[in-house]
Amino acid sequence: MFQRVHHLSVLLPLLLLLFCTPNTIAAVPHRNPVATNSSDNGVGVAEGGGVVETRPYHHHHHHLQHFPSQWQNGTIDSTGIDNSLTEKDGKFLFTVVQFPNILCGSGINSGTCFTRTECLVKGGTIIDSCALGYGVCCQVKVTSCGGDITVNNTIVTNAEYDNTFNEGRNCVFKVQFDDTTNEICQIRYEFIDFDFVAPETTGVCSTDKLVFEDDRKSQYFCGKAPANYHWYVETAGTTSPQSFSISTDGTTSYNRKYAIRVTTIPCMQEVPTYCGQYYDGTSGQISSFNYGNGAYLAGLMYSICFQKEDGYCTYTLKKTSDNQFIGAPDMLRLPMGEGIAVEANPAAAGSAIICAIAIIQITAMYSTIPQCFYPSTMTSNNREAAFYVTINTLVDGNDNRNPVDTTAAGFQFDWETNTC
Ligand SMILES: *[C@@H]1O[C@H](CO)[C@@H](O)[C@H](O)[C@H]1NC(C)=O
Ligand SMILES: *[C@@H]1O[C@H](CO)[C@@H](O)[C@H](O)[C@H]1NC(C)=O
Ligand SMILES: *[C@@H]1O[C@H](CO)[C@@H](O)[C@H](O)[C@H]1NC(C)=O
Repeated sequence: MFQRVHHLSVLLPLLLLLFCTPNTIAAVPHRNPVATNSSDNGVGVAEGGGVVETRPYHHHHHHLQHFPSQWQNGTIDSTGIDNSLTEKDGKFLFTVVQFPNILCGSGINSGTCFTRTECLVKGGTIIDSCALGYGVCCQVKVTSCGGDITVNNTIVTNAEYDNTFNEGRNCVFKVQFDDTTNEICQIRYEFIDFDFVAPETTGVCSTDKLVFEDDRKSQYFCGKAPANYHWYVETAGTTSPQSFSISTDGTTSYNRKYAIRVTTIPCMQEVPTYCGQYYDGTSGQISSFNYGNGAYLAGLMYSICFQKEDGYCTYTLKKTSDNQFIGAPDMLRLPMGEGIAVEANPAAAGSAIICAIAIIQITAMYSTIPQCFYPSTMTSNNREAAFYVTINTLVDGNDNRNPVDTTAAGFQFDWETNTC
């Protein structure tokens, strides 16, 4: 016991020097891997043990192993352990395991992979193991009405979640982030679950709302979040903490609930500034907020961006139904290139407008063709362009539903990227 502590006191300062990325480094004495504590937030000592790799401690800072990604999946091959080193110089050997503090689990059952001790220090709850048992999937929650968010991937819910509440509340949350230049560039909010009173027919959130105080791309959110909805807010020009607020009006009876995961995005991982939403992978679905539940939101100016991976040149959007509507002068801009067909107006009358247009044609299109409909399936023809769709909606008192068929509001597409 004494010996182990002694070794660690030598080891920890070395490990701390390495600590510039969000990783947990767990040092396990090779011969007796048992639980030990760490007071540091980054450097932990693996608990429950298992020998992964042994090295003389004075080499650790040169030979520290990064946690192989396949460990997240399977098992460590114990035959890979170098026991000869142990026999030669057991007194100075440690097993060093470094694993990134990555997201573990998904949705409401998610957290960050830390050591057990780190998790307790952060006030988290252990919901699973991760990093092959060297780490724990640690969930930090804020269930109070307002408060500080200090830990990455904190989940904010109403206290009764996943039950609802039906009363007026005003809650302000402050998200702490490292505002050293070039550290944290964005905060990503994942709407795991969100159900508030819908906006007025004009798209204004006058009863309930969620407001990201420093966001220039949105004014408010209300109604229902589509599945997998998320939103990026820039930190540029702001200092920590950045606030968001939730307010509900108790004079309107409605069963509300919310569960939002808050992630701070290092500048090295940031998405383009104009992307309120960013999707990786090669296919998925996008929807306007509150789609299928009434008017689309007013006061938005953002893009939905898709990762353009090597070998992918174009992308395709497919309407999930014809029940879609963006009313002028609001716009959904699809930078598809030229030559996109405009379908005949299927609903006759009405003022439904969704245009498939090249960005450079916007003015002309809107001045000459006040109503246009995009085809069911559209594929971009500009192989150089980034993959994105831009949405611009005003707080102008206009109807944010199709006045002829008021169930038609907003947009929903299946998207996919295509190989070159
Ligand atoms: C770890 O810390 C806890 C609380 O600080 C203490 O009760 C426990 O005995 C410690 N464990 C070890 C192995 O030192
Ligand atoms: C994890 O397991 C899945 C399913 O067995 C496999 O498709 C995937 O490639 C594995 N990932 C790694 C990193 O080994
Ligand atoms: C927060 O967690 C995410 C994973 O969900 C990770 O990508 C990101 O780098 C973390 N942020 C910081 C500041 O460590």
